[in-house]
Amino acid sequence: MIDKLLKRPLELVEDNFKQPNGRAGRLIGHVMAKQHRTLTVWAIEHMEVRRSQRVLDIGCGGGMAVKLLSEQATQGFVAGVDYSAEMVRQSVRRNVDGVAAGRVEIKQGDAGELPYGDASFDQVSAIETFYFWPDPMRGLSEAYRVLKPGGQVSVTLEMSREAAEKPTAKQRLLGRRFTERSEREGLRILSGADLVEMLGKAGFRDARFVAEPLRSFGWVCALARK
Ligand SMILES: C[S@@+](CC[C@H](N)C(=O)[O-])C[C@H]1O[C@@H](n2cnc3c(N)ncnc32)[C@H](O)[C@@H]1O
Repeated sequence: MIDKLLKRPLELVEDNFKQPNGRAGRLIGHVMAKQHRTLTVWAIEHMEVRRSQRVLDIGCGGGMAVKLLSEQATQGFVAGVDYSAEMVRQSVRRNVDGVAAGRVEIKQGDAGELPYGDASFDQVSAIETFYFWPDPMRGLSEAYRVLKPGGQVSVTLEMSREAAEKPTAKQRLLGRRFTERSEREGLRILSGADLVEMLGKAGFRDARFVAEPLRSFGWVCALARK
């Protein structure tokens, strides 16, 4: 009974994490941007963005990463791409000054067909979005295409198979249930090693990952170079 009552709201939340749309999407976009802030800060720390770099954030959602990245690439350029029109609007609003100054650009587009030319960026990030891509290898090869030689890709996830030796109470109570449910809904729950293997297959070199297994459901950030 409780499961039935919860099913519709949970589906609504899941659908809107995947592709925020309409009023619910707008609300979830705002919640996501705040909820993912610490994960986003952590991911960006590992990217080590330089002042004059050109950076692309794929699946940019409400534009929090774009904002934080543009505070680091102060003399560079930061682009965000998302296939949700609602998230593009939210990202533009969050980055209105950068957009007006021509230092930030937000475009509607798909991870599998990025709206940028070859060798356009020094860094490409994808935060809490990789699970949803229908063809993740195609997305990685697009990231490879738009990176300059020597450029860096980073894929960050909030939920992974990086199990903690001593799980938190939340992980013990909800972890397996949550990941199994997500997999039933078609999400791929990956480990850092899985990400490293996929990056290697996409042609990247020096792939590695860092993990914080105790954070949320196992934070992981995989990085590699073109
Ligand atoms: C869970 S949200 C994360 C948003 C943001 N990166 C963050 O951390 O707050 C996932 C985002 O990825 C976008 N997305 C999912 N699949 C995509 C695809 N194939 N191409 C472009 N964007 C995609 C969704 O529209 C959504 O905004």
